Amino acid sequence: MTANDGHPDLEGRHILLGVTGGIAAYKSVELVRLLKKAGADVQVLMTPDAGRFITPLTLGTVSERPVLTEIFVDGDEGSWTRHISLGRWAALFVIAPATAQTLAKLAHGFSDNMLTATALAARCPLLICPAMDHDMFVHPATQKNLEVLADLGYTVMPPAYGSLASGLVGQGRLPEPESIRDAVVDMLGDRAHGESLAGQRVLVTAGPTREHIDPVRYISNPSSGKMGFALAAAAARRGADVTLVTGPTHLPTPSGVTRVDVESAEQMHSSVMEHRGADIIIMAAAVADYSPIDTSTQKMKKHDGDVALQLRRTPDILSELGARRSDDQILVGFAMETDDGLAHAREKLDEKNVDWIVLNTLTDEGAGFGVDTNRVTLISRLGEEEELPLMSKRRVAEAILDRLRFDATKPAA
Ligand code: C5P
Repeated sequence: MTANDGHPDLEGRHILLGVTGGIAAYKSVELVRLLKKAGADVQVLMTPDAGRFITPLTLGTVSERPVLTEIFVDGDEGSWTRHISLGRWAALFVIAPATAQTLAKLAHGFSDNMLTATALAARCPLLICPAMDHDMFVHPATQKNLEVLADLGYTVMPPAYGSLASGLVGQGRLPEPESIRDAVVDMLGDRAHGESLAGQRVLVTAGPTREHIDPVRYISNPSSGKMGFALAAAAARRGADVTLVTGPTHLPTPSGVTRVDVESAEQMHSSVMEHRGADIIIMAAAVADYSPIDTSTQKMKKHDGDVALQLRRTPDILSELGARRSDDQILVGFAMETDDGLAHAREKLDEKNVDWIVLNTLTDEGAGFGVDTNRVTLISRLGEEEELPLMSKRRVAEAILDRLRFDATKPAA
């Protein structure tokens, strides 16, 4: 191999490749070859069943490292914590092919072999490439496991459509090794342009707020927090010092992010004000606009007839940040509109004195609350408007951060 074969995002990077027991395991040989050719250092981990499809000798030879399968090896007393050190060694963990069985184990935190234990210990991003028969892939149990994995922050590369080992045709084929290599480059590349936010303090808010009426009832909204969490994760990947102030969500904390959990708009306001010295503030939280004037400490008894609830405005956190901002701070707000979105978003830029508004429209399919994808329009105080296509919230987060690098977003002196 000559130095010219290398890829800048893969050169010298440590990659774990997990191979599980499916017919597509034979493609992992080519994948190892491509990653090695691009300059990566590849350690293969196999599940015990993968050895029925491809030999450790083959993968050990192409990767130039002994393949690991079991956590406990007879006569090898000193190395049982190797799954922990490997989990820290890797810049990326790719599992290709990932069988339905391994997906289920990963979704539920099983650690019964070297591959699953290392996945649990890994601090790096995971790229999971499922491959199985079509019927197994579309089964609700598998789909649910994939949702769990996406919620855990794993990247799932969907299987391709085509003829399957069973003789049937459908979705379930492992993508070609070149496509998996490209996805690896993509993921490691995100980290490579990460340097751009090194030394910057970034504050992100996420999720809904809950405004309690009594201990068991509250006013809230369906925000899942996914967009804000994706932003915090992306900023951390780029080397920023990230604080994430979040309302109630079930999402795991992205690695390298300092998380502050709050419940109400009032609590979010206090926490944001504590951190308002950040260089970049992105308010992705869906903050409740109104809160009950009286909150009962006991559960309110129901009576015959109607009841009226008196609400007061919550503090508009973003407006306050805009009023108290410094010139070199970057402020980003979100807007979710059901009608005349662009006009409202433009007004919001001025009213709240922010640099960017990210507009998402509730009527767009695949965009908005709860889903993993989003379709947004970015609007800047300098009059730029950019409508982005439907893409994953992870990509939307990257796109937003890419825009913030331009000095042109700074307010005029
Ligand atoms: O005015 P509107 O609620 O549409 O503005 C949305 C933007 O303002 C979001 O960025 C949201 O996080 C922020 N916001 C806030 N405090 C509120 C309400 C919204 O910071 N009380």
